[in-house]
Order: sequence, then structure tokens, then C-alpha cells
Amino acid sequence: MKQNFIFLSSEGDAWYERNQTHLTQINIAEEPDISYILASLLPVKDQIDNILEIGCSSGLKLKKLCDELDAKGVGIEPSEKAVMDGNAMKHDSVTLVQGTGDSLPFADASFDLVNFAFCLYLFDRNTLLKSLAEADRVLKPGGYMVITDFDPGTQRKRAYSHFPGLFSYKQNYGSLYTSAGLYYLTGKKCFSHRSTVFDTDADERVSTQILYKEKDAFINES
Ligand SMILES: C[S@@+](CC[C@H](N)C(=O)[O-])C[C@H]1O[C@@H](n2cnc3c(N)ncnc32)[C@H](O)[C@@H]1O
Repeated sequence: MKQNFIFLSSEGDAWYERNQTHLTQINIAEEPDISYILASLLPVKDQIDNILEIGCSSGLKLKKLCDELDAKGVGIEPSEKAVMDGNAMKHDSVTLVQGTGDSLPFADASFDLVNFAFCLYLFDRNTLLKSLAEADRVLKPGGYMVITDFDPGTQRKRAYSHFPGLFSYKQNYGSLYTSAGLYYLTGKKCFSHRSTVFDTDADERVSTQILYKEKDAFINES
């Protein structure tokens, strides 16, 4: 539980403080993850009433998704400061709670869309599968799981430059759901940590994957 605890106690706030100004200056709708999610899910917005965003920081991206999809949003984020600032903005449609993705304080099947918002690479490895299971638990069958994260093509880790002893873990997280046969990959946008297009440097590659949670993943042969 080392990384999760450090993000809860200090590094979540530190990430927020390093990026707070930048987050308010960007055009959220033009961010590659958000523009792709909206282009893909606007046609099915009638099916999306409740959104959970994991690793939401102060909730600016979550608010954009809620506004465009006419949905209510809940965000979970370890940074106390980001959660306080986000809730102080008093968006009617969005509520943020402090916590980490390995323990979600929400009922089973309570969301139509769960968005892992570029955070899985920071999760402790010993509770990674628990975190994936928690997101699956709270997502309704027939809902959408969105994952934005580093996606280099091969599993790799790198020392996290802002805190000694922590790592960034890069791998194809969507495949952990699709290989179970319970999720279908509806689409994937490849871009980069430093630009909006595919990167030949594997270490910089990022993708947004949109997975559909099958209502019944098994063909009945009887
Ligand atoms: C790279 S930032 C992304 C922030 C925002 N979602 C965005 O796309 O701009 C990663 C975020 O994940 C949060 N985070 C780190 N570990 C987490 C965990 N175990 N559970 C949930 N969020 C976590 C960090 O505090 C930080 O806000």
C-alpha cells in the first residue's frame, strides 16, 4: 500500500499544486482523452446518467464530461486539496470524495460510466487487481469503462521523478479487462504524453480505451 498511502498523505496534493495552474489554462474539450471520449459516447449519452471518475484531481475533466453527457458525476481522488477546491466550485452535477481506487465507497452497479483518468500507472501493484475489480463492481452491466493511461506496448516501469522510491508502471490496462472476456474494446485512441498524436517513443505512448461491459459475456450453447 506504499504508493496509495503516499498519494493520500502528500503526493496527491503535490501533483495538484504542480499542475493546478496548467489545468485551469487548457481547453478541456480539446484534450485528447476528453475529445475522444465525447466523440465516442455522445451518440449513446441517453444511456449515461451516472459517471465515476477515478484520479479526478479537482474534477475539471469530470465536469466537462457531465455537462456534455447530461450526467451526474462523482470523483475520487487522494489529494485533499484538489477535492476541497473542486467541491468549492459548487458544480451542481459533480461531487468529489477523497480516497484511492482500491476501495470505492459506492454501491455495486451504481455507475453507467467509470473513467480511470490517467491514474492507474501510479497505483500500488499489490492492490492493482483489487482496484480493477472495484471499478468493475461499481459499473453496471451494459456500462462503459474508460481507461486513459501510458500504453507502451511492452510492460515497463520507471522511477517516479517527484518522489524517491515510487514508480510509474506502464502497461496496457484495458487488456486486463478484455482478456477476461467480460469487456469488449469499442475503440482506442493512441496519442502521447507530449503531443496529440501517436509517438514512436514507446515510453511516451498514451491511449484512451473505451470498453463495453457485456451484459452477458457467454454464448449459451445448451
Ligand atoms: C496524472 S494525474 C491525472 C489527473 C487528471 N485525471 C487528468 O487527467 O488531468 C494522476 C492523478 O491520479 C491520482 N492518483 C494517484 N494514485 C491514485 C490512486 N491510488 N487512486 C486514485 N487516484 C490516484 C493523483 O493524485 C492525480 O490526481
